[in-house]
Amino acid sequence: MANGSSFFVTTPIFYVNDVPHIGHAYTEVAADVLARWHRQAGDDTWLLTGTDEHGQKILRTATQHNTTPKEWADRLVETAWLPLLGTLNISNDDFIRTTEPRHEVSTQKFLTQLRDAGYIYEGEYEGAYCVGCEEYKHDADLVDGTGDYVGLMVCAIHSKPVELLHEKNYFFRMSDFQQQLIDLYEQNPLFVQPEAARNEVMAFVRRGLDDLSISRSSFDWGIKVPWDDSHVVYVWFEALLNYITATGYGQDEELFARRWPATHLVGRDILRFHAVIWPAMLMAAGLPVPKQVFGHGWLLVGGEKMSKSKLTGIAPTEITDTFGSDAFRYYFMRAIGFGHDGSFSWEDLSARYQAELANGFGNLASRTLAMVTKYFGGAVPAPAGYSDADLAIQAVVSAAATQADAAIERLAIHEAIHAIWTIVEELNGYITLQEPWALAKDEANRARLGTVLYTAAEGLRALAVLLSPVMPLACGRLWTALGVEARLGTLTAQRIREAGQWGQLPVGTVVGALESLFPRIEQAPGA
Ligand code: MSP
Repeated sequence: MANGSSFFVTTPIFYVNDVPHIGHAYTEVAADVLARWHRQAGDDTWLLTGTDEHGQKILRTATQHNTTPKEWADRLVETAWLPLLGTLNISNDDFIRTTEPRHEVSTQKFLTQLRDAGYIYEGEYEGAYCVGCEEYKHDADLVDGTGDYVGLMVCAIHSKPVELLHEKNYFFRMSDFQQQLIDLYEQNPLFVQPEAARNEVMAFVRRGLDDLSISRSSFDWGIKVPWDDSHVVYVWFEALLNYITATGYGQDEELFARRWPATHLVGRDILRFHAVIWPAMLMAAGLPVPKQVFGHGWLLVGGEKMSKSKLTGIAPTEITDTFGSDAFRYYFMRAIGFGHDGSFSWEDLSARYQAELANGFGNLASRTLAMVTKYFGGAVPAPAGYSDADLAIQAVVSAAATQADAAIERLAIHEAIHAIWTIVEELNGYITLQEPWALAKDEANRARLGTVLYTAAEGLRALAVLLSPVMPLACGRLWTALGVEARLGTLTAQRIREAGQWGQLPVGTVVGALESLFPRIEQAPGA
């Protein structure tokens, strides 16, 4: 992708019935890493996240807590969902709440547009509904209940009984879009990713699509249907619209054209909403479909999706309070292939923190800067002639930067980090082999010592730039310690697609002290 293209990335908007756990944090971090990468590449980047506040689930939670749904949503947003962004160091450009007027007004506009185009009709819905999913269910989505629910059919995701609905609803003619959707998936094989997600969605659509009930009349916590205020809009139908109501649809067409279409990151639990219903809605309105829908895997506990309703949720602060946000971000992006399920364990987190962050990256940084200080009074020495070993490092840095950018383009975040980490590993091996402490013993080796330490310090420069989307705080500290800000500018101003070009660190730059990037952790929780 050339510099200056646009990149709009979204997370799902999260339900405010409960507080976030590390599964929600996972999507936030992935979106943030991509957004930071693209910003540093000079792309016109926008990161949108937010909260999904209407529907029966929120209404019931509020009622159980003797409050109104709006008060409940306000409380959860203020005390839990906005603070999550700080906990994880998320650089979102916007945060949309579905109770905001900008969303409500534009949602109504969209509905009117669809009705005028003939895609909405009145009908009767009879069938099962899962309030946990806020989704109409087919028989195939249900399983036999266990425990308290023996003898009942329950939702396969929530393990709770579904409710039987019989209501007059408005329907969206989604079935009209079956062929157009199949054409979309076939013509644009990257539209739904990864491959397994694409196959699942295609098989689902090939089986045939029903029309979709898009309103509810048995409760009123939602956005009113513009031509019939005895109905509110089905919560998923309006939630999906957040991606365009937050970016100018119906209000600011110029802005909308600049931002849209988006790359949507979603958990695979909500893939169909994004890869089937959402593009069909956009097609009906004559709007461009999303750029891409990426269904990532689940964080598992005991082989099942981590969830608050099953009491398996871990609060992100349980991890960040001990390890910090950088280690949180690194761990989840590195240890789990993006697109695959993965299990979290305290042991694995502690082991990677120690081996990869503290001993690997942290130690490389501190010993390099300490040697520049000790042997050259803190001024980065000039490289003399490069040997094969030095040139090999330059080749590793260049290849890592190129491979990482290509991996980010494919949304393979773990592969990008893996590629960048070859620099950490190769440089640590290089220092061990070159033994600068031995070179320092003989004045005759002074020029060689300068080359070795220049190579290590310049490698650190590249690492700071390439890892800053993943670990912005540690890389910011490293950038400060490298002392290059006055000469090269701020870390985030460094063009990431040029990070692999050798020799950017100016000779003579005076490095400063570096406190341990990843301090030792005495006792990890849960360990
Ligand atoms: N409100 C809807 C989304 C509407 S988007 C237009 C919703 N909200 S949710 O609060 O249930 O969040 C679901 C999302 O949270 C998943 O799609 C995923 O991004 C994230 N995760 C929740 N649990 C997760 C795991 N156990 N593992 C990984 N991600 C998880 O659905």
